[in-house]
Amino acid sequence: MCGIVGYIGKKRTSKLLLNCLRKLEYRGYDSAGIAVFAGGELKVVKCKGRLASLEEKLCGESLDGTMGIGHTRWATHGEPSDVNSHPHLSRSGNIAVVHNGIIENYMKLKEFLLQRGYEFVSDTDTEVVAHLVEYHYKGDLVQAVTATINELEGSYALGVICKNNPEEFVAARKDSPLIVGLGEGENFIASDIPAILEYTRDIYILEDKEVAALRKDQVKVFDSHGIEVKKNIFHVSWDVTAAEKSGYEHFMLKEMHEEPKVLKDTINPRIKDGLVELDNIKISTEDLKNIDKIFIVACGTACHAGVVGKYIIERLARIPVEVDVASEFRYRDPLINDRNLVIIISQSGETIDTLFALRESKKKGARVLAVVNVVGSSIAREADDVLYTWAGPEIAVASTKAYNTQLAAIYMIALDLAYKKGSIDIETYKKTVEGLKDTPRALEKVLSDKDAVQKFAAQHYNAKSIFFIGRGLDYALSMEGSLKLKEISYIHSEAYAGGELKHGTIALIEKGTLVICPMTQDYLMEKMLSNIKEVKARGAVVLAITQQKNIEEVEKAADVVIPIPDVDSLIAPIVAVTPMQLFAYYVAVQKGCDVDKPRNLAKSVTVE
Ligand code: AGP
Repeated sequence: MCGIVGYIGKKRTSKLLLNCLRKLEYRGYDSAGIAVFAGGELKVVKCKGRLASLEEKLCGESLDGTMGIGHTRWATHGEPSDVNSHPHLSRSGNIAVVHNGIIENYMKLKEFLLQRGYEFVSDTDTEVVAHLVEYHYKGDLVQAVTATINELEGSYALGVICKNNPEEFVAARKDSPLIVGLGEGENFIASDIPAILEYTRDIYILEDKEVAALRKDQVKVFDSHGIEVKKNIFHVSWDVTAAEKSGYEHFMLKEMHEEPKVLKDTINPRIKDGLVELDNIKISTEDLKNIDKIFIVACGTACHAGVVGKYIIERLARIPVEVDVASEFRYRDPLINDRNLVIIISQSGETIDTLFALRESKKKGARVLAVVNVVGSSIAREADDVLYTWAGPEIAVASTKAYNTQLAAIYMIALDLAYKKGSIDIETYKKTVEGLKDTPRALEKVLSDKDAVQKFAAQHYNAKSIFFIGRGLDYALSMEGSLKLKEISYIHSEAYAGGELKHGTIALIEKGTLVICPMTQDYLMEKMLSNIKEVKARGAVVLAITQQKNIEEVEKAADVVIPIPDVDSLIAPIVAVTPMQLFAYYVAVQKGCDVDKPRNLAKSVTVE
């Protein structure tokens, strides 16, 4: 996720663009840049680092134009660097582009352009767009951008300026947000409302594949066929801080609502013609013959994703998997060798225990595959292979969307290994791939039905202790549900394997004890129903989370049932975790806790 802005008007453009970008840094902050039309020239200043580095670089530069675009980056394709930062220029240098999103077919388009003599200086997908606009440019920038977006697959919010079009710049979007700000003798584009709120509260919200042509004194919007469309003006009544969260009360709630989109961003570019293709990770069938065990090592939520990964990889690829918390793994002289694959999972890519576990693994000869959310982070750089989760910046300390995308990444790894090993039949493979691709739709439904979760949280936020009980994949899920609750509501909670109740825990159950049961595994349903009866017989209050098809049966046993769509049991964790994330969130809000910045915690634990 990145931040883009654009301006045309009478103010000093470079100063205004920087001011707008400052309000978008929460969307991405590993590099930044602006392009301004000044003195008849198109001038670009950009660099790695936060906005402050760009301001330093701009010192003394005279970029006083009347039109420009700006960008603050969260890297996906291409590590954070000066050359990979935006704006990107076309071959002639006459067209500059800023982009937020992921162009899924950029390699095919890059090949098309390379064959026609275009040269590339960066590793980004965005540079393809700059050259493609020039390829289509015959003097009409709107027409060139329209022709370009009709060839793009994936997500984009674009700002495009052209040296030969000093009176107008163009913007377009699909799946990535973009608004047009309507001023007096000036007009704007921005990824999010906060960027331009101090200049105007009247905006157009661009719809997918709409193209906007902005002049000082007029804005026209066209559809992807070049037909002008009538837009309604939306008047923003939010204050600036609320706007940074796009109107959500907390970043955590905003980030949960981003789950469908970031899952799409993470999954879709890796599924080609129904097959999983893991970027440039080449674990060949031959390599697999030399891998007799997999270790998954991480901390906290990332480790809980690893526990799900164990079940999935063993079920699909039939390779033994051992999961360990990094802080234990790195000090127990692990029995690792060159016949092992170590999967390291980390949202930040900087967690010190996880980084040292990676180094310990490499020292012992294992191959290391990292699942990381931050491009160019320490773990990403030191791993042999990296599969990025494209969840965008996760601001809230409690990880939500990153966890869902970590699961998606692990499912794709498991499918890739299983396919190469021939350990599952093609029907199961295809059914699982389809189920994976369906998770964004299923999550949209879960998020639209969140009121029942909020209501239940309002009834139980004073609980002194809450138990999460599950079996199989639901046990792995219970661990994450319990951690979410603990870290933001400060309520004691424990996750237990359903079958373990009778070995001690059930002694803790008394009248009114709250027990939460994810029940998504068909083959374990009867066992879980027995567990519910056991705890209810001792006075527990039970909230169950299960597929719609099981509601009637589960409602007979549990007090409250939160339905999820009828997703396949195998990929259910990606969907069933979100009601538990929402439960933790609403309990914490009811308790008046600092949801985004819980006490004693940091977003990235870079110290031991
Ligand atoms: C997640 O909600 C927690 N904030 C924490 O457990 C986190 O998952 C853990 O610190 C690992 O962080 P990482 O994924 O950045 O390595």
